Amino acid sequence: MKMIAPSILSADFSRLGEEIGAVERAGADWIHIDVMDGHFVPNITIGPGVVSSLRKTTALPFDVHLMIARPEAYIDAFAAAGADVITVHAEAATHLHRAVCAVRERGIKAGVSLNPATPLAAVEEILGDMDLLLIMTVNPGFGGQRFISSLLPKIARARRMIDASAPGVILQVDGGITVENIAAASRQGADCFVAGAAVFGADDYGAVIGAMKRLAASPQERL
Ligand code: DX5
Ligand code: ZN
Repeated sequence: MKMIAPSILSADFSRLGEEIGAVERAGADWIHIDVMDGHFVPNITIGPGVVSSLRKTTALPFDVHLMIARPEAYIDAFAAAGADVITVHAEAATHLHRAVCAVRERGIKAGVSLNPATPLAAVEEILGDMDLLLIMTVNPGFGGQRFISSLLPKIARARRMIDASAPGVILQVDGGITVENIAAASRQGADCFVAGAAVFGADDYGAVIGAMKRLAASPQERL
């Protein structure tokens, strides 16, 4: 099943609980939470305290995307805050396999994210120990950026790599996903679609998420 994970990065931060409730009612599958530290990426967002408070507002899985240096040091804090998935960047973790194992030891899903310039080979040896592979389709740091369409073949190659060696791994894409390009990303084999500006910038969250689900499920359909 194809999944939509709205990124609260583009939500109204003064009403985060209400915004999560609204996308839940609109059909969101996961809530994507972008954690930025001003070191790994040039922006600062939210920490485990906010995640812990938001945990009370929904039963939907929290998909926590750590765009931070030394992610290993924060796995415990985000697990305790209620994350269901913790994704670390291959470029940020010195001991990536250790980080992935540490996440799984907390009984939650372990993801690894790759920046646009990072080859799939960065995770090839540890794919069997992962639950999710995140292909960034923008350079991380900000919401509302343009989808880098030259990365479509990388999504297709990731699909083939997963099917060949670790078929249970969820293939997620993140960055610039819209109703215009979600079908193309889905055709390459992505399972889970993060969308921030496209969802929270719309007047009707239900209409956007509904259209995205329809286009991801039947990617041959045209808008
Ligand atoms: C980028 C973040 C993304 C981003 C998605 O650094 O990891 O999750 O906020 O937002 P849009 O869909 O606006 O690109
Ligand atoms: Zn993200």
